[in-house]
Amino acid sequence: MDSLLNDVASRAQRYLASVAERRVSPSLAALKGLEAFAIPLQDEPLAPANVLAELDSLGSPATVASIGGRYFGFVTGGALPAAQAANMLAAAWDQNAGLELQSPVSAYLERVCRGWLVELLGLPAQTEIGFVTGATMANFTGLAAARHAVLQAHGWDVEARGLFGAPPITVVVGNEVHVSLLKALSLLGLGRERVVRVPVDGQGRMIVAKLPAIEGPAIICAQAGNVNTGAFDPIAEIARVRGTGTWIHVDGAFGLWAAAAPAKRALTAGIELADSIATDAHKWLNVPYDSGLAFVRDPRALNAAMSASAAYLIEGESRDPHLFVPEMSRRARAIEIWAALRSLGRRGLAEMIERNCRHAERFAHELRKAGHEILNDVALNQVLVSFGAPERTRRVIAAIQQDGTCWCGGTEWQGNIAMRISVSSWATNDADVAKSIEAILRCAREVQRAATERA
Ligand SMILES: Cc1ncc(COP(=O)(O)O)c(C=O)c1O
Repeated sequence: MDSLLNDVASRAQRYLASVAERRVSPSLAALKGLEAFAIPLQDEPLAPANVLAELDSLGSPATVASIGGRYFGFVTGGALPAAQAANMLAAAWDQNAGLELQSPVSAYLERVCRGWLVELLGLPAQTEIGFVTGATMANFTGLAAARHAVLQAHGWDVEARGLFGAPPITVVVGNEVHVSLLKALSLLGLGRERVVRVPVDGQGRMIVAKLPAIEGPAIICAQAGNVNTGAFDPIAEIARVRGTGTWIHVDGAFGLWAAAAPAKRALTAGIELADSIATDAHKWLNVPYDSGLAFVRDPRALNAAMSASAAYLIEGESRDPHLFVPEMSRRARAIEIWAALRSLGRRGLAEMIERNCRHAERFAHELRKAGHEILNDVALNQVLVSFGAPERTRRVIAAIQQDGTCWCGGTEWQGNIAMRISVSSWATNDADVAKSIEAILRCAREVQRAATERA
């Protein structure tokens, strides 16, 4: 085992050292190399060192270097060194974090992180957290607590009786709701199509004056950070006009972290009034995948929606993690969250968020200066760029991905085809941004030249 661990450490070290120099997306040769995995399973065992060597030689080149500083796809944070190292130690511990009895350290760290996070993000002190796999499950978890609470207030026990015969719940979403929230609603039996959609403005923010008058059990699903523009719904205003008994859930997959950065905190105004909030730790807190957080202001609602008991599930002294999440057996995600927060401190976290936002502004400024259109107000870490006609923009995106210097994805924003730049990693520095801008402008020029030649 000793030599295997030394071997894995040096392979991991070589991989991380190569990231700054290599292409961000894997080469065609590396992708072709994956075919060597497609062999019949042999009869006899293979030495672990050989398994690792095979994985490294075929697998490492075919990874996307999203851990480096020039990956701007989706909203994919990097992994902070302390969080990544903690993840490796946690692999050695191999804890089942379901029960306190199975992993006292994980249960303890969940409690510590809960206290730190609630304070850091300015949420009510009693807020409980479910440590889940990502924002999709955090949306699911927060909305399960919502479903419990709004139906309980109308005398209905949804966990015991299900939704058959229950009073109908009005679910309100903004027209630019993230697809994961709709998926969560569908998993909960609330339906992705029976929602009331509220019109939004040009940035994707809900127009509060268009909120419907609501009676009976109701959940309003707001958003803190639109996946395309980064815009925030006006949560404080929504909270002001909601009826009594209406639950407010906020999908803050990445935007919630603005609350930890003084320069951006104002965007999250009213977040403390939300009943539940979903966020990702693997996005802007930069812990390894997978890791999300479901914050619920009333711990009883979360616990009622998630709890399960059986004679053999021996209860711990204080707080059994599985009572706040959908899973029972689970990975000890709080370890990496603790390591990320402990290594950054309040100042380090704020600086990372603010630095990423400054880099987004620089992208927008330089691309606009070169004559390209920026489609959003760059208030956070997202930039939407149009290179002209839809086909031209698509070609530029393909050229950038092919070039390999950096990686940006595409999207459609309110009828326009756009390239998305999402700056979400601690590893992105000024040089990465400069090199990426240079590559983007070069690809745009090449696409333009090719179009002129064709014409
Ligand atoms: C606003 C929003 N909600 C939810 C999600 C889903 O997050 P995850 O993929 O971690 O489940 C995303 C992902 O980009 C997002 O931007």
